[in-house]
Amino acid sequence: MILVTGATGNVGGELVNQLLDGGHDVRAYIRNPDKAGQLPDSAQIAIGDLDDTEALHKAAEGVDVIFFMQTTPVPAQAQNVVDAAKATGVHRIVVLSSIGTILHPRPIIGEMINARDDVLRDSEVAITYLRPNTLSTNALWWKDSIAKEGKVYDPTEPGLTSPIDPYDIARVAAVVCAESGHEGNGYILNGPEALSAKEQVQILADVLGRDIEFVSVTPEQFAQSSIERGTPETQARGLQNLHELFRAGRSGFLADDVENLTGTPARTFRQWCEQHRSDFS
Ligand SMILES: NC(=O)c1ccc[n+]([C@@H]2O[C@H](COP(=O)([O-])OP(=O)(O)OC[C@H]3O[C@@H](n4cnc5c(N)ncnc54)[C@H](OP(=O)(O)O)[C@@H]3O)[C@@H](O)[C@H]2O)c1
Repeated sequence: MILVTGATGNVGGELVNQLLDGGHDVRAYIRNPDKAGQLPDSAQIAIGDLDDTEALHKAAEGVDVIFFMQTTPVPAQAQNVVDAAKATGVHRIVVLSSIGTILHPRPIIGEMINARDDVLRDSEVAITYLRPNTLSTNALWWKDSIAKEGKVYDPTEPGLTSPIDPYDIARVAAVVCAESGHEGNGYILNGPEALSAKEQVQILADVLGRDIEFVSVTPEQFAQSSIERGTPETQARGLQNLHELFRAGRSGFLADDVENLTGTPARTFRQWCEQHRSDFS
């Protein structure tokens, strides 16, 4: 039995489908009972939040592997998952971490995720770390300015990243959850091409069949304008730090872990755009 947290999200939802398709028993851990209907009937449902230790213990009973993800890296929630795993005899945890944890020097967000991962490292449960580069779904952050102004404001040019489709993160997660031999390992997950933001916007414009103006701004300008629009200062400055790293070209690497682990290459950014055309309408 594989327990999937974040099962109503992009990665977790896809992982549930792929594990079920592969004939595995899946329990989906979801916090909102109203979303249970999104999941296939063949998935068991466990209701609970990552703060709910009692629900986590119950959900972990009879489980072999936990797929653990968080939207914000809260160490206390990781401790809750570890405690539930140890109390119920779960052998392994596969965590959705980030490439930012192994860059040197680490970006601020990488430092926060690494502090969360320390809880897992110290747990004596076998851990596998999935470390994606930027997600293709980040392009959805451009949706509003494209709709309102036909523009994308970006602070990372000319830096490259290799965006990965959550579908491919799920493909890797399905492999490492389903088979042993990945204990203690960390995998770098990226798409097949290193692209600048401008190139990504050109691909998206091409797929959508419309003009999109690319406006390059500095990380400082981007942070300032986010703060003026209500983003908390610490969050905006954390993002500024990440943008400076991208701009300096520290995120354009192309590892081959996705293909090595799954046997097929990751989807391109163009394929993601084609699959998500309707999200921009
Ligand atoms: N964006 C990037 O470039 C990037 C780069 C590297 C790594 N990552 C990592 O990628 C992940 C993003 O994955 P995703 O796209 O699948 O996220 P997502 O679609 O936003 O899904 C988040 C999931 O977490 C659930 N959730 C949130 N808070 C919860 C709580 N307190 N208790 C229980 N469940 C909770 C949500 O449930 P509801 O449906 O109820 O809200 C949802 O199922 C993050 O872990 C991030 O750190 C991102």
